Amino acid sequence: MVSEKDALTTNSLWLQLERRAAEEKQRHLSDWFAADAQRFSHLSLEGCGLLADFSKQRLSLDTCDILVKLAEQRALRHWMDALFAGADVNCSEQRAAMHWRLREPNAPEVEAQLNNMEVMVERILRGQWRGVLGDAITDVVNVGVGGSDLGPLMAAFALQSRLPPEGHKRPRLHFASSMDGSQISQVLQELNPRTTLILVSSKSFTTVDTLQNANTARRWLARGLDVTFDDPAMLRCHFIGISANADRMAQWGIVKSNQLFFWEWVGGRYSLWSVIGMPIALTVGMAAFRELLAGAHCMDEHFRVRPWRQNIPVMLGLMDVWNINFLGINARAVLPYDGRLKHLPAYLEQLEMESNGKSVSRSGELVDFSTCPVIWGEVGPNAQHAFFQLLHQGTEPVACEFLMTARRYTEAVHSDALEELEAHHVLSNANCLAQSRLLAFGERALDSESALPIYKRYHGNQPSTSLVLDELSPRTLGALLAMYEHKVFVQSVIWGINPFDQWGVEMGKVVASDMLGVLADTSTAQGLDSSSFSLAQYIASNKR
Ligand code: F6P
Repeated sequence: MVSEKDALTTNSLWLQLERRAAEEKQRHLSDWFAADAQRFSHLSLEGCGLLADFSKQRLSLDTCDILVKLAEQRALRHWMDALFAGADVNCSEQRAAMHWRLREPNAPEVEAQLNNMEVMVERILRGQWRGVLGDAITDVVNVGVGGSDLGPLMAAFALQSRLPPEGHKRPRLHFASSMDGSQISQVLQELNPRTTLILVSSKSFTTVDTLQNANTARRWLARGLDVTFDDPAMLRCHFIGISANADRMAQWGIVKSNQLFFWEWVGGRYSLWSVIGMPIALTVGMAAFRELLAGAHCMDEHFRVRPWRQNIPVMLGLMDVWNINFLGINARAVLPYDGRLKHLPAYLEQLEMESNGKSVSRSGELVDFSTCPVIWGEVGPNAQHAFFQLLHQGTEPVACEFLMTARRYTEAVHSDALEELEAHHVLSNANCLAQSRLLAFGERALDSESALPIYKRYHGNQPSTSLVLDELSPRTLGALLAMYEHKVFVQSVIWGINPFDQWGVEMGKVVASDMLGVLADTSTAQGLDSSSFSLAQYIASNKR
């Protein structure tokens, strides 16, 4: 096993990969495909209801094998065993990272909390959860930010075309995350306090963004229901708390019977599988929520047992390492060609950039190579009409990740317009295939002999991975998201960094609290830089 201190960039496999990159950079993707008619079957993998095609990545099969050796040499097996054994893989906080346990079939403590959540979900979906004046709940607002918002929002949105079971009525779901008040005020404006339930979702229950929004909602409820801010019946009927910190939930006013709990060993950005996923369960019902967990568990097993070369998260992680560290491609675009995955890019921005946006190794040394790239994305068809031009003919290399669904309009709710909707689905997939083809082969993708003017020339050779879900179901979504979690872990192991902390973000919170003091009274701004001071003064002097 390699020690953390062994410099990654001087090890022989790394040097070998650098030499190969110098050579392989010169080759065009069209040459790779021309040289190997079986390239797709050599470089695609299937598992848990999804297909990953890496054949449009710019590397040879031999290079893949060396990347796999690098994973072995960086002790991926050791780290994976440590992760799944519940060891303190989050070394800066001496914590385990056991999000995988949330989807294990035999985890009694997890099951107990899911059962508590199920009781609440059932009462809401059956119209039995009543507001303080006896009205059934029609609207649920999830107040949370980061992992307490992005995962539930993304998955609930992705699965909303699937109806909850017979006899259940889904409440309207709303999300308020941003601390500036724009979302919460907009959401509350449209709601009736008598029929509104607030989920206060915060692992720590100390996040100011969430507490500010929750307090605003609480004042709105107290005003609308004509009760006091601390009214026990209002708190019991209109607030559920979801947190790893029972004391703080209680201090804030969440009654014991309305507290849902998860654990310190669940990272915020890995928490949608826990009771933080309540908005998902409210969208599709508890049985489907459990299917989401089962799909993720399928991917956990795939990750644990499949040899590296056949292992989707491992190969996905290694492809990224190749692009970032050897081809110098430091941007990745996530492009779902299924609008239900609209919030996936934002979710992945947190999962990947908050996890692997690090520059110090586990052993405390500054790294001398790139880690997490810049990740952004958009629903593919819309992105085509927005930023694709840069992907096609710009100067910045970008690795693209295309997502498609093979089957789509299979649910009864679509039967009225099935033909039209199928045409939409085909159109969207055709566009997705066209973009990855064009990026790879450039103007060669068009069968045209005629010479093009320079501004129309299109070199191509931009790498991409295509991910195809058999269909977008709770199960395949679970597998897809667990795949991303494990891929992030694989990259962290190669780079020797801790993917489970976020100290930069924590420091941002401290500075923000200082600045709050400055905005309250600019005369307290001792030693502030002239830019921050002048901005604070400008704001203060323009305040009415
Ligand atoms: O901003 C950092 C962060 O700690 C994220 O990691 C987390 O998902 C988010 O804030 C929200 O934290 P909490 O769930 O504790 O309110």
